[in-house]
Amino acid sequence: MASKKIIIANWKQNGSLRSLYTLTNQIIRAIKLKKIKHSIAILPPHVYLPMLSKQVLSNKKLKNLSIGVQNVSAFPDGAYTGEVSFEMCKDFGSKYFLVGHSERRQLFSESDALISKKVSRLLSCNKKVVLCVGETLAERNKKLEKKVISKQLTSALSLLSQGSNIKTNNIIVAYEPIWAIGSGKSASNKDIYNTHFFIKKKLATRFKSCKILPKIIYGGSVNNMNSKDILSIEGVDGALVGGASLNAKKFIEICSSI
Ligand code: PGA
Repeated sequence: MASKKIIIANWKQNGSLRSLYTLTNQIIRAIKLKKIKHSIAILPPHVYLPMLSKQVLSNKKLKNLSIGVQNVSAFPDGAYTGEVSFEMCKDFGSKYFLVGHSERRQLFSESDALISKKVSRLLSCNKKVVLCVGETLAERNKKLEKKVISKQLTSALSLLSQGSNIKTNNIIVAYEPIWAIGSGKSASNKDIYNTHFFIKKKLATRFKSCKILPKIIYGGSVNNMNSKDILSIEGVDGALVGGASLNAKKFIEICSSI
């Protein structure tokens, strides 16, 4: 059997109480029927975390299903109107914290500096971070993708001191070329392989004294037609799925494609 992957559903600002409850139930049922063997995480909008975490956590046998959030504050309690801390999400069983998604960077002006604060706060508190990196189409056309990704990675990890007790298995890097997100056109298998290899090399240098390197997953128009090929690429430890994760049938097919 193929090695165990991590497949993360990023539901973004979609769904309702009823539709996400039903979707979660369908995923739970597929796991119970042993259709899915990989590790799965669902990332609902914050407001639905209490309800859905109850649904997920009350099924004690579902060891491979976790819940997480799509964004988190860089700060502990305080006067940060509209923000939600990881401690608050953790109260509702959140295990994964997505940081630096390109929609946060582009639509909400999240800077590299803010992202690095989030990353260091989460990792220093032993939490699992899914750190998104990836280039725009313009950057790709200028062949700047490696430079851009390198800068994003270096910056995101810059507040972690070299000898600190950070657990590298708490880090997942999601390579998401921005032009592939929601476009229906994923990166080619060759590009995914090459970029994951590049990221792995960077991480191996950054964490040279660590036995375990962070996992690297791919995101950007992953669907039930291309997931088998993408998840089979050497160096791809899983997938971050947006649009297709809102459709139970498609998402379950993705999760059981290899
Ligand atoms: P997509 O989104 O699968 O709809 O391309 C991926 C993401 O933004 O995480």
